[in-house]
Amino acid sequence: MNHIYLDNNATTPVRPEVLSAMLPYFSEQFGNPSSVHWAGRQVSGALEKARAQVATLINASPAEIVFVSCGSEGDNMAILGTLDALSDKGKHIITTAVEHPAVLNTCEYLEKRGYSVTYLPVDADGMLDLVELEAAITPETVLLSVMWANNETGTLFPIAEIGAIAKKHQVRFHCDAVQAVGKVPVDVQAANVDLLVISGHKLGAPKGIGAIYIRRGTKLTPLLHGGHQERNRRAGTHNVPSIVGLGLACELAGQEMAEKSVQIKALRDHLEAGLFAAVPQIKLNGHPTERLPNTLNVSFAWIEGESLLMSLDMKGIAASSGSACTSGSLEPSHVLGAMCVEVTLAHSSTRFSLGANNTVEEIDYVIEILPPIVQRLRDMSPLYNCGKVDACESCDTLKRL
Ligand SMILES: Cc1ncc(COP(=O)(O)O)c(C=O)c1O
Repeated sequence: MNHIYLDNNATTPVRPEVLSAMLPYFSEQFGNPSSVHWAGRQVSGALEKARAQVATLINASPAEIVFVSCGSEGDNMAILGTLDALSDKGKHIITTAVEHPAVLNTCEYLEKRGYSVTYLPVDADGMLDLVELEAAITPETVLLSVMWANNETGTLFPIAEIGAIAKKHQVRFHCDAVQAVGKVPVDVQAANVDLLVISGHKLGAPKGIGAIYIRRGTKLTPLLHGGHQERNRRAGTHNVPSIVGLGLACELAGQEMAEKSVQIKALRDHLEAGLFAAVPQIKLNGHPTERLPNTLNVSFAWIEGESLLMSLDMKGIAASSGSACTSGSLEPSHVLGAMCVEVTLAHSSTRFSLGANNTVEEIDYVIEILPPIVQRLRDMSPLYNCGKVDACESCDTLKRL
């Protein structure tokens, strides 16, 4: 059976060039970059090269990049570190209802400790209202935390405009750019971001490595205390092989993004058009145009997303029914909930997230085999056949699709 991987927002394969670049740092280049002797010196050069590679991709300077273990750590560091460092300024955070759990659960943790959090709503396309965002800022607000791109729907927020609002009100701006970096251009200067988080495994580097951009002069309490690594910003011996991998993945993304994003978007649009032409009663979740080039989230009315995923899996196709972190839970996605997607439609949502390795043949195969699977599942669905269609509000919504 051929394997078709359409779950690149969950994770990406490590690029072969990245793996080769990493390998020496598991063997002959084994030194600790904090050591002053030859073994340490050999490696510290590689660390600084990677720092510059990451910085270049987002238009930062190398000294503003701190390596962390993952995107979740970066988000925790940005939020907890800001609230602690600015404790004399206020206790109010503004974020959105559709952030990743790395942000939402950190905000909830703070709420339990006396901080107040505003969760901005989104519209049916998953888009923010910037008038509402600006109106939520109070003299107590110390942090605005808004993601660059949504992991479930791919909706892109107008980050430069949000950055301008944050600057105007002198509120610190944290951006979870885990899904954006490597897929769309990210420029921390143009966007006026103070803290920006990257995760390696979303752009062809390994899992368990990430980076946080900290604008020069930004006060931030560290999350990890210990050694003096990363200019006292983040203690812990460096994960040198993964840092080298992240650096190269960022350099390659910078070189290839313009061309590859066009190619990936064409494939994604082909999939979208093919599914909408072949399957009746389906709904796009996410913004029709302001969306990551690789992401397609669709609800297939009358069926369970999980059943569809299992049937696709049996044909070798990997997709997702929400973010990988929340799949396994029967709760409908908080992102689709915030977009007021009707609950049975939220349960029937499926996310296809494409990568540079996908081919048109793969997409054609999905367009060919998915419609009969959907029809088979609908034929088995008590909802589809319930006969009470006219009396039921859900059925009525689905019928109108
Ligand atoms: C938007 C977003 N933020 C944060 C994370 C967490 O990143 P990591 O898996 O590196 O902890 C993810 C992972 O899916 C994500 O999609």
